[in-house]
Amino acid sequence: MAPLTDETAGGPAPLDVAAIKADFPLISERQERGHPIVFLDSAASSQKPRQVLDAMTTYYERHNANVHRGAYQLAEEATDGLEGAREKVAGFVGAASSRELIFTRNATEAVNLVAQTWGRQHLHAGDAVVLSLLEHHSNIVPWQIMAQQNGFEIRWIGLTDDGQLDLSNLDQLLDGAKLLAVSAASNVLGTLTPVRLLADAAHGAGAKVLIDACQYVPHHSCDVSALGADWIAFSAHKLCGPTGIGALWGREEILEEMPPFLGGGSMILNVTVDGFTPAALPQKFEAGTPAIAEAVGFGAAVDYLLGIGMDRILAHEQALTAYAFRQLTERYSDDLRILGSAEPGRRCGIATFVYKDVHPHDLSQVLDERGVCVRAGHHCAKPLMKSLGVAAAARASWYLYNDRSDIDALVDAIGAADALFDW
Ligand code: ALA
Repeated sequence: MAPLTDETAGGPAPLDVAAIKADFPLISERQERGHPIVFLDSAASSQKPRQVLDAMTTYYERHNANVHRGAYQLAEEATDGLEGAREKVAGFVGAASSRELIFTRNATEAVNLVAQTWGRQHLHAGDAVVLSLLEHHSNIVPWQIMAQQNGFEIRWIGLTDDGQLDLSNLDQLLDGAKLLAVSAASNVLGTLTPVRLLADAAHGAGAKVLIDACQYVPHHSCDVSALGADWIAFSAHKLCGPTGIGALWGREEILEEMPPFLGGGSMILNVTVDGFTPAALPQKFEAGTPAIAEAVGFGAAVDYLLGIGMDRILAHEQALTAYAFRQLTERYSDDLRILGSAEPGRRCGIATFVYKDVHPHDLSQVLDERGVCVRAGHHCAKPLMKSLGVAAAARASWYLYNDRSDIDALVDAIGAADALFDW
């Protein structure tokens, strides 16, 4: 891949970040200890624009009722809100039909749904699931829970020295495997994985493919048919939407064959004293009253991002990644080690780093004194951190509402740590 620069000449039109910041009340209005908020933790959860907050408030003020039940006007409006949002989110990832888009509580629940339904049915002793060392715990533990119950093997794709997947033994790992479950973008190293190549290899070996797309969907124009996966999991709150809702996309014929996940109201066609008949997709997987206002917010977030343009957002983030790498490495040289690839063009808008021997929690507190928000710790990826030989690290991650001034604030605030810690 050609090295990225922080110029977007010839590419998509640059973002008007000042106008975008103004859409986000927390960013434009909130101060922390006299400093404007410099929010660099979007890989954990993004901020929400006024358009999303207004859509949710309007839903509660004007349309609130339960869905798929009442034959009165408000109930129909609430149902339209939920199903309209499903259409938007399905379209956002290129689903062939909104029947393929299941609303879940979050991406973690989406992975658990597949593990507890398809996994319970298809994975048994003698079978194998292939994961990678890049995975977030949400794409590890659901498989470990099912492996404890059904007794299958978990195999691991290792990493190269520059934080890429080591595919040298992929054929061997996939031999006899029934599932490959990997992330499209690492929440720690920012590594972008070759999803299509992996999916084709897995399918060639007869395995199904699940992609953790949490760090991918918010930043890329996504087409599930081009990715080649059987399922993808992602959440709303990382793409400017609310918490409490995520999505599982799956190929319709596979979802049709999967047994239900949670049982209860809404997910049935019929119930008798002898048993039940599940509802058609997508309701089969949506037991109970769904997160209706959150779905409306999810749809509004998708509208917001599409209104700006995913290609423009990606180009902006790539330029910011190149700028951040240059500033961090020029200013701190060997004192600051960015984990993963040293080539910004090979990663998404994430820099996870270790600074001298300052504990990342201490560093994060020093940054917070200046309003700079970063995540510190193991980033819910302990097997990855162990393989890197690092117990904890600080992570800065950026999105469409960040600009160079935010990176500059981060770089300057790291320097402030020197004044506070005794070397
Ligand atoms: N998965 C989120 C993160 O990486 C919570 O911070």
